[in-house]
Amino acid sequence: MTSKDPAARAAELRATLQHHAHRYYVLDAPEIPDAEYDRLFQELQAIEAAQPELLTPDSPTQRVIGEVLPGLVPVKHTVPMLSIRTETDTTAAGAEAFDARVRRELELGEADAAIEYAAELKFDGLAINLRYEAGVLVQAATRGDGETGEDVTHNIRTIGQIPLRLLGPANTHPPLIEIRGEVYMRRDDFERLNERQRERGGKTFINPRNTAAGAVRQLDSRALADKKLSFFAYGLGDAQGWAQPATHSATLDAIAAFGLPVNRERAVVAGSAGLVAFHQRIAAMRDALPFDIDGVVYKVNEVALQKRLGFVSREPRWAVAHKYPAQEQMTLLRGIEIQVGRTGKLTPVAKLEPVFVGGTTVSNATLHNLFELRRKGVRIGDTVIVRRAGDVIPEVVGRVPGERRAYVPNFRMPRECPVCGSRVQREKGGIDHRCSGGLFCAAQRKQALLHFAGRRAMDIEGLGDKLVDQLVDGGLIRTLPELYTLGLAKLAALDRMAEKSAAKLVAALEKSKHTTLARFLYALGIRQVGEATAKDLAKHFGALDRVMDASVEQLLEVNDVGPIVAQSIRTFFEQPHNREVVEQLRAAGIGWDEHEGEDYTSPKPLAGKTLVLTGTLPTLSRDEAKELIEAAGGKVSGSVSKKTHFVVAGEEAGSKLDKARELGVPVLDEAALRALLEGGTA
Ligand code: IVH
Repeated sequence: MTSKDPAARAAELRATLQHHAHRYYVLDAPEIPDAEYDRLFQELQAIEAAQPELLTPDSPTQRVIGEVLPGLVPVKHTVPMLSIRTETDTTAAGAEAFDARVRRELELGEADAAIEYAAELKFDGLAINLRYEAGVLVQAATRGDGETGEDVTHNIRTIGQIPLRLLGPANTHPPLIEIRGEVYMRRDDFERLNERQRERGGKTFINPRNTAAGAVRQLDSRALADKKLSFFAYGLGDAQGWAQPATHSATLDAIAAFGLPVNRERAVVAGSAGLVAFHQRIAAMRDALPFDIDGVVYKVNEVALQKRLGFVSREPRWAVAHKYPAQEQMTLLRGIEIQVGRTGKLTPVAKLEPVFVGGTTVSNATLHNLFELRRKGVRIGDTVIVRRAGDVIPEVVGRVPGERRAYVPNFRMPRECPVCGSRVQREKGGIDHRCSGGLFCAAQRKQALLHFAGRRAMDIEGLGDKLVDQLVDGGLIRTLPELYTLGLAKLAALDRMAEKSAAKLVAALEKSKHTTLARFLYALGIRQVGEATAKDLAKHFGALDRVMDASVEQLLEVNDVGPIVAQSIRTFFEQPHNREVVEQLRAAGIGWDEHEGEDYTSPKPLAGKTLVLTGTLPTLSRDEAKELIEAAGGKVSGSVSKKTHFVVAGEEAGSKLDKARELGVPVLDEAALRALLEGGTA
């Protein structure tokens, strides 16, 4: 219950915020979504602004919260690690308000020129200060309360992206430089970690941010072995004997040149219009980014102007964080339904009170499996936390602690498939419940078709779920190969199917027949065979028959294929009806060039060779060149050493070219590289 009296409410909010701040910052185990915390925080700020006499020095609004855990050694920051003011107005007005404030504080008039800003992503991880003395990483510390953090050097040293020694010749290394940035976890690394946890029946992690933050503050760095962390630098701490460039953007360039990762989605923009455009551009690509961001950050670019603007209560006046809609929200769990997937797996799906999260309205979210649902302790009627980030399907990550008004029975899996009535089974020791109906089950048939037609599989445009429902429910298709016997007449007879769209689908089916072995293998929907494994199989074996006839031992020789995957592939191709499906698909005209398996067919002209790329090549991008070199068996390294075989130099090649000359490493241009790739000699 919330109290009406502002003084009492402020005290209540302070206690609540303190509790949640401790859960979040110290224990890395929040009970409520960040957005809910922000709401409470803002409510307290509003009360304190209206009635300043209610403000107390220990209010959470007055300091950066975070305690030093017993066990990690405290580190006093020589330059405090500040926090930034947050602009929670997620519309363009947020950017305009910041620019207006900066101009006012600098006493600029309308006639004065636009201010130059450095605009960056706001990474959602944990702030870290890296201290380099004479180019060597001597200490890494968390922010803590801004004055005193914790020494986490032992863990930070395990992050491959963070150089233990700065790049460049020793005489260019400042006696002291502190580089600040964010340790975070990529979404794919996070998904992989949770996938592994699920396979083992272990506890899954809530989100990449908490996982990264928790990992960094472990006492024992071995706990990081299964968690791949990443880092982006975004600023400077203490520095001595270093001439800092005149702008923030140039400072980041210099930091990047020292070998630290600096995100490339940053820009120098002019005035509020530039900020708004940046905010919108990044919003459009937010879901496609490989990591979570919770907003963007704007910084006045000129260091001299930053100095003039200064600070208010530990927040610089020259920077602001401009938020995007939160990726986690609370909502009511109204019910739980069962969805039957391609492999017959029964997934409990949460039916939610619709909630706006991560930029869209979500009313369904996965609960993954019975065990995870039980571990999270969610029951119908609970308030739950929903997360939606990127292209990942929305999921329920936990429940908000609170009393239930009435007894709610624990959710149980049905004994019979809700779609086809077949018996539901669970493998001994397994986690997943499955419908035993196989292709008799309409749900499995539909999902198998959708998977087969998917963009990354056979890429049959226009074959979506509505059409698949009709095809299966109408009894037009029972097996995958029957897709290719559909013909114009049958299709055009379907509901809501005009002649024109039927013709389009027929053309798409025809087009899909020319594919690649990797796509075909993936499209078959073999359990445990995702896109990456399908590519590895195609590359390793080169021909379908070789994959179909491979023994478990032979399969184990493939990159990243372990016993479970190998057995699953073997089992699939041992079943006569699966072999028949493959034969019928081939008979329908599906084909590919059987020379994808370079291991078998093409020679590897760059096997065992290490190359370094520098400068801009006339036609190839960095990534393209890298891909070609790797496909030819070569390795691409970031720095030149005596072990480098070739340096490929383009226009504006820098210190790497000098180094190559110094060490006598052969230097190639793009034409020479292409000749090498084709098997010639340099
Ligand atoms: S600048 C004086 N830039 O956001 C300015 N911070 O309170 C200091 N963050 O936890 C911070 N991305 O770790 C800055 N591009 C970015 C950032 C960023 C994420 C985090 C930072 C801190 C919070 C700011």
